[in-house]
Amino acid sequence: MAGYVVVGSQWGDEGKGKVVDLLGSHTDMVVRFQGGNNAGHTVVVNGEKTVLHLLPSGILNTESLCVIGPGVVVNPFVLFEEIDKLEAGGLKCDHVRVSDRAHLLMPYHVYLDELQEARAGKNKIGTTKNGIGPCYADKYTRIGIRVCDLRDWDVFCEKLETVLEIKNEEIVKLYNGKPFDLEEMKEKFAAIRERILPMIIDASDKIEKALDADKVVLFEGAQANMLDINYGTYPYVTSSSPTIAGVCEGAGISPFKLDRCIGVVKAYSTRVGEGPFVTELLDETGKSLREKGGEYGATTGRPRRCGWLDLCVVKQACRINGLTDIALTKTDVLSGYEKLPVCVAYEIDGKTYDTVPASLKDYGRAKPVYKVFDGWTEDISSVRRFEDLPENCQKYIRFIEEYTKTPLCLVSVSPERDANIILRELITE
Ligand code: GDP
Ligand code: IMO
Ligand code: MG
Repeated sequence: MAGYVVVGSQWGDEGKGKVVDLLGSHTDMVVRFQGGNNAGHTVVVNGEKTVLHLLPSGILNTESLCVIGPGVVVNPFVLFEEIDKLEAGGLKCDHVRVSDRAHLLMPYHVYLDELQEARAGKNKIGTTKNGIGPCYADKYTRIGIRVCDLRDWDVFCEKLETVLEIKNEEIVKLYNGKPFDLEEMKEKFAAIRERILPMIIDASDKIEKALDADKVVLFEGAQANMLDINYGTYPYVTSSSPTIAGVCEGAGISPFKLDRCIGVVKAYSTRVGEGPFVTELLDETGKSLREKGGEYGATTGRPRRCGWLDLCVVKQACRINGLTDIALTKTDVLSGYEKLPVCVAYEIDGKTYDTVPASLKDYGRAKPVYKVFDGWTEDISSVRRFEDLPENCQKYIRFIEEYTKTPLCLVSVSPERDANIILRELITE
C-alpha cells in the first residue's frame, strides 16, 4: 500500500501543483478528490508553465493514471477545454479518467454563482464564480446530475428537464435572470457526451485495486483547511472538504489505506476573496510580497491578499490532517526583508489563543502575536542543500518545524520542478 495525500495548509495557492507534479513522476495514479475548476494549480518544467484546474497535476507523467474522483464537481466543458489545450501543446491526455459518481457542474451552476454573488453585494464571498457552491448545494439537496447519468441519454434528459425547471424558476423569479433553453442545453451535452463516455470509471474500486497491488497513489487536494466547509472561516470558505477527511469521502477510500499526508505551506500567507486574515499586510510590504511572489490568482487573475506567515493556521492544518510532512514553498520570496514576523498566537480581548476561533466576530478582532526573525538578503533560488542556506533562513525554517512539531520534507526555492532542498525521502517505493 502506498497512499499519499497532498493538501493545502493555509488559504490555497501554497504550491500544491508543484509538489504534486514533483511526486507525480513516481506515481501510478494521481487523484483529485474534491473541489472543481475553482482550483488553479501551477506546474513549471524547464520554464514552461502549465496551469491545471480540473485535471490532476500529475498529468505531465503520461504513465500515471489521472483520476477525477467521485467528490469532484466536474464542468465537462472546462475539462475538454483543458484537455484540448494540453493536446494542442503536444501532450496526449489518454490517461485521464472521470468517476461515474462525480457530479456534473452545469451551466446554470456557473450562472447562479454569479447571480448569488451580485445579490449578496457587500456580503459576497468572493467566489471564483465557477459554480462550485451551487453545484455542491444541488448534490446535497439531491437534485444533482452525475457523470454516470450521461451513460443513459434518456435518463440524463429526464433529469435535466426536471432540474432545469426548478433552476429556471429560481433564476427568473429570484434573480430576474435569463432562463436556460432545455433543447439548447441537450444539444451541448449530446456533443460532449461522446467524448466523456470512454473516460468514465468506478474510481473508488480502481483506486482500491491499485493500492492493493502496491501501486503508488497520490491524492491531490485543492484549496486548503482555512477554506474547508467545516473548519475554515465559514461562510468565507469553499463548499467541500479539502482535508484528508475529504480523501476518504471524495475518493471512496478507507483512512487505513493512507500512509502519508504532506501539507504544503507557503513561507508567508495569501488569501483570495473575502474573509478574515489576521496577518494581512495592507501596506507597501504587502504589495512587495505580492509583486515578488507573483501573487495573482491562477484561476481568476485576482490580486491575492498578502501577509506574514500565520503558524496558528498551519498548526490547525497539522491537527486536522495529521500531517506527516510539511513541504515549504516560496521561501525564496522572503529574501531581502530586514525582519520577518511570524504569528505564533492570537490576542482577542486581552486573552491569547493559538487556535482559530469559530466565530468570525472573534476572529475578526484577533491581533497577531508575532515572533520576529532576522531576515537575509541572499538569493536562495539555486541552493539545493539545507546547510548552504543563509543562517537566518535556516532558523526561520527550523522554527516552523519546531512550532508545528511536523518534519519538513522539502523546501522549494523557485517555481521550477527541480528547485528544491529535499530533507526527507518523498516517495518510498
Ligand atoms: P496551488 O493552487 O497550491 O497549486 O498554487 P498556485 O499554482 O495557485 O500558486 C503557487 C504559485 O507559486 C505558482 O505560480 C507557482 O509556480 C509558484 N511557486 C511554487 N513554488 C514556488 C517557490 O518555491 N518559489 C517561487 N518563487 N514560486 C513558487
Ligand atoms: P487552489 O486549489 C485560493 C476561494 C475563493 C473564495 C472561496 C470560495 O488553487 O489552492 P469557490 O469558488 O470555491 O466557491 O470560492 O474560496 N478559493 C480559492 N482560493 N486557491 C484556491 O484553489 C481556491 N478555490 C477557491 O477565492 O474566497
Ligand atoms: Mg492555486
